[in-house]
Amino acid sequence: MDPYKHRPSSAHNSPYLTTNQGAPVWNNTSSLTVGARGPVLLEDYHLIEKFAAFDRERIPERVVHARGASAKGFFEVTHHVSNLTCADFLRAPGVQTPVIVRFSTVIHERGSPETLRDPRGFAVKFYTREGNFDIVGNNIPVFFTRDAMQFPDVIRALKPNPKTHIQEPWRYLDFMSHLPESCLTFLYWFDDWGIPSDYRHMDGYGVHTFKLITKEGRETYCKFHWKPTCGLKFLLDEEAVIVGGSNHSHATKDLTDAIASGNYPEWKLYIQTMDPADEDKLDFDPLDDTKIWPEDLFPLQPVGRLVLNKNIDNFFNENEMLAFNPGAIVPGIYYTNDKMFQTRTFAYADTQRHRLGPNYMQIPVNAPKCPHYNNHRDGFMNFLHRDEEVDYFPSRFDPVRASEKVPIPTDVITGRRVKTVIPKENNFKQSGELFRSWPRDRQERFIKRFADVASDPKVTPEIRSVWLSYWAQCDRGLGQRLASRLGMKALL
Ligand code: HEM
Repeated sequence: MDPYKHRPSSAHNSPYLTTNQGAPVWNNTSSLTVGARGPVLLEDYHLIEKFAAFDRERIPERVVHARGASAKGFFEVTHHVSNLTCADFLRAPGVQTPVIVRFSTVIHERGSPETLRDPRGFAVKFYTREGNFDIVGNNIPVFFTRDAMQFPDVIRALKPNPKTHIQEPWRYLDFMSHLPESCLTFLYWFDDWGIPSDYRHMDGYGVHTFKLITKEGRETYCKFHWKPTCGLKFLLDEEAVIVGGSNHSHATKDLTDAIASGNYPEWKLYIQTMDPADEDKLDFDPLDDTKIWPEDLFPLQPVGRLVLNKNIDNFFNENEMLAFNPGAIVPGIYYTNDKMFQTRTFAYADTQRHRLGPNYMQIPVNAPKCPHYNNHRDGFMNFLHRDEEVDYFPSRFDPVRASEKVPIPTDVITGRRVKTVIPKENNFKQSGELFRSWPRDRQERFIKRFADVASDPKVTPEIRSVWLSYWAQCDRGLGQRLASRLGMKALL
């Protein structure tokens, strides 16, 4: 035994039970008592330690996306993009990077059914040679709001009523009646799209606009899209009731079984690109995350493929303690002025310091796989054994360790301090286009689902007519058909 090399893992299991201190446990079924019938003695160290561990087993669930499944695999570049970015992991076709992916629902609790109508999270962590790059996206290409100031309210309105702990449609219809920009996300959510059949048959989207940057500093706006090679599949409402009623973890099981049987789930990665010089030429703001970039104007360009070929070994370590962060970027990729994106670069590490502790980046699933070094140290549950004598910078005893310069955007930013909405809101046009692209039966299903929730007795006539006006502005026919189903007068 080398007393200085021990690292807790299953590889160090003893052949018999021990306490956490390593002392042998000779009885794991009976408490230490005075006589066979008790009382129990506090000096039963093993009993007290067993309860101390059990009593603290659960950590706070994620404030959103609590329910999820993860799997490991690789990303492989298939097409040249080195003309757009100096990102090392995208340097040439054939280059592979290890990844971990977590799929999730958004609103409902850790043990909730995976058949509920909800956006699905699609988060990918690339362990690159230049650090972790996380695309923390959803299966819907847009989001309910464009300003993070409203994100906690979006989530509260969708979460259960704080009084009854029941999700109640009047609460989100009330709140979103103040948010016309939510229409496009709402359409996807109440469309068949709102219940993917499982995690394998769904798209993923980075949602925000990113920047790709070359070594020379040339910048290109970019959106990321994941497309499953096995195609898209959804559950209609009646099917979801049956699937969810017989197995509330059906999507986790589907993912695990597919990988275990060698039927590896695969997605192709595409990008849409735009020259930042063109950003004012459109009738919408390309940095507005409530908008898509039309594919006829900004075609999908293939980049690579994502293959999930390994199930996780430990759900707690590799799912519950997994921490994604939209702020985790690598040289060659950067954020844009998308307001939601910017606040997200703060919020995730903040919640993870609370949920997992200040040293959450030392947890093996979160730690970069490349060598890394800085003077951030110590804190609760630090287990990194460091022997450097210099913990400050700069120092004449420690060779300078700044990396080579990384290109960052060079655009000049000027303006007054304001708290306001963006000039080009254009809240309804893309929703109308999406609605008209559906066949009649799909449109009818959307109308029925919306009419059902809008018929909640707590939805006031005022809230109903605001919504009717929004849908009519998206598409006149949609407004008329909804009005007649709700027994109201069409507004346009
Ligand atoms: C400002 C807006 C947003 C804020 C403040 C926010 C905040 C959060 C927080 C606090 C978590 C829990 C993280 C954890 O405990 O590890 C989370 C998870 C997540 N969020 Fe957001 N979010 C925002 C917008 C979005 C948007 C627009 C998307 C989709 C593009 C998104 C996708 C996700 C996903 C996929 C997860 C789950 C990651 C995982 O599987 O662990 N979020 N978000």
